Amino acid sequence: MAWNVVDRNTAGDLGPGISDAVRQKIRGFFDRYPTRRAVMLPALHITQEALGYVSLQAMRDVAEELEVPPSDVLDVVSFYTHFWTHPRGEKTIMVCRSLSCELLGGRELVEALKEKLGIGEHETTPDGRFSLMTEECLAACDHAPCMMINEKMHKCVRLDQLDQLLDDPDNDRLDMPRSDLYDAPGGEKPDYAALARQHGHHDEPAANAEDDDLGYTSDVGEMKDS
Ligand code: FES
Repeated sequence: MAWNVVDRNTAGDLGPGISDAVRQKIRGFFDRYPTRRAVMLPALHITQEALGYVSLQAMRDVAEELEVPPSDVLDVVSFYTHFWTHPRGEKTIMVCRSLSCELLGGRELVEALKEKLGIGEHETTPDGRFSLMTEECLAACDHAPCMMINEKMHKCVRLDQLDQLLDDPDNDRLDMPRSDLYDAPGGEKPDYAALARQHGHHDEPAANAEDDDLGYTSDVGEMKDS
């Protein structure tokens, strides 16, 4: 695994910061937890919902709100694959890569999705509609192979269902009421198409980044490719 050292004090464009409304929503969690630090995950969920990803500036802002060093926020962001450090699409497709799904065709689903969407893992379609990633067990092993589109689980997915699944405008709509606890204030969504136009469909890996043994590329500014 290769690491590219970046001095974030001179790193240039740190991306967007969080708005006052996002700060207020984060502060609304303070009474629920024993410490501000404990609000880390809700704060990052809200931030990502508002911005479409967690920028370096947003990490600084969250650190300021939680009264922790920015490096602590980066630690959490880089640990969880759920958090993106570069813009993602409106709908994130997460295909399970753990054992049951792997044995029953998960890898073939990933390859077919790459082909149909014209993107690789951790990349976004040019129109900002879809991003693609793999994820560890999605906790529905008895219905392998599985994938999620945003929060919606799709079970026992067959290759011949993919076109219909991608075309279905409700492919991420839950069949049950969902909590808006971690949504952006006012339910606002980022302009995913504009983000895709601004940032391209994926981040170029750092010049000295190399694929690790698992086939994933790491670089520091991103720390991971999600
Ligand atoms: S192995 Fe795929 S859901 Fe558990």
